[in-house]
Amino acid sequence: MQHRILATRKIGGRAVSAIGLGGMPMSIEGRPDRDRSIATIHAAVDAGVTFIDTADAYHLHADEVGHNEELIAEALRSYGGDTSGVLVATKGGHLRPGDGSWTKDGRPEYLKEAAKASAKRLGVEAIGLYQFHRPDPDVPYGDSVGAIRDLLDEGVIEMAGISNANPDQIREANDILGGRLVSVQNQFSPRFRSSLPELELCAELGIAFLPWSPLGGISLARSGALGTEYSAFLEVAEAHGVSPFQVTLAWELALAPVVVPIPGASRPASITDSAAAAELRLTADEVARLSAA
Ligand SMILES: NC(=O)c1ccc[n+]([C@@H]2O[C@H](COP(=O)([O-])OP(=O)(O)OC[C@H]3O[C@@H](n4cnc5c(N)ncnc54)[C@H](OP(=O)(O)O)[C@@H]3O)[C@@H](O)[C@H]2O)c1
Repeated sequence: MQHRILATRKIGGRAVSAIGLGGMPMSIEGRPDRDRSIATIHAAVDAGVTFIDTADAYHLHADEVGHNEELIAEALRSYGGDTSGVLVATKGGHLRPGDGSWTKDGRPEYLKEAAKASAKRLGVEAIGLYQFHRPDPDVPYGDSVGAIRDLLDEGVIEMAGISNANPDQIREANDILGGRLVSVQNQFSPRFRSSLPELELCAELGIAFLPWSPLGGISLARSGALGTEYSAFLEVAEAHGVSPFQVTLAWELALAPVVVPIPGASRPASITDSAAAAELRLTADEVARLSAA
């Protein structure tokens, strides 16, 4: 199948679609069956998405670590076309023991093993982008990031990113990585704007900023409350004849050229709609209005 071409942005040296796909809703609580997940990933590629975000911790039960990585690898293998241009980014450092909680392990030896296990599940020799999922308060941040640097140097990963980092951690990680930090993934949406300083720092440093839960998170997005909670987004959406989800993503894209939102999806229609935000142009007045909303 011939997929669409979307506007692109840069993550390190790679051009990727300006809108990515977040894989988490396909593997945690409320996940769909396997066939719908595969169809969702195929729909993303059909829509021109060439960036997919996952993590080894996107799973439900203790014995299925890497559930989401395996789904993505399987979907890319079974897509009836060329998927070599799709960058798959995964993460390590978070764990799910199976009781619904999320725990952390930022020990260098753990991260190195986790990355190798992720590469195996993804079926790649080197992981395109590997992100340290979340700082572990029991391990010095520099030690965890040092493991990511070693993985880069050893060729286990091609590019390095971090997630849930503050400005000091972004600068520290970039120093430890010798200027090779390519991405920062933090929570950012109309509802959660406190990562704006990190977004602005990334814009200054030329590092990709990947807003996670860019639609306010699975529950808010699925409830349809996005447009009612922030009526300006609904009004702008109506003016353009598009969904408030598209307007939200287009607003995030308009904040800086380094922004690449990764909306989650568990239905083909969700990512097909979200991907179209890469082509939606808002006026400067609209962006200012949404920023003030
Ligand atoms: N680094 C971290 O610590 C961290 C934490 C959380 C998330 N993430 C990453 O960020 C990604 C996105 O975050 P998220 O999944 O939590 O939340 P989100 O992207 O804010 O919302 C996801 C939900 O929005 C719905 N949706 C998406 N586009 C839609 C559209 N155009 N129309 C209608 N509904 C739409 C989907 O519903 P359906 O399920 O019905 O399709 C999906 O479940 C995750 O998948 C994950 O990759 C990272």
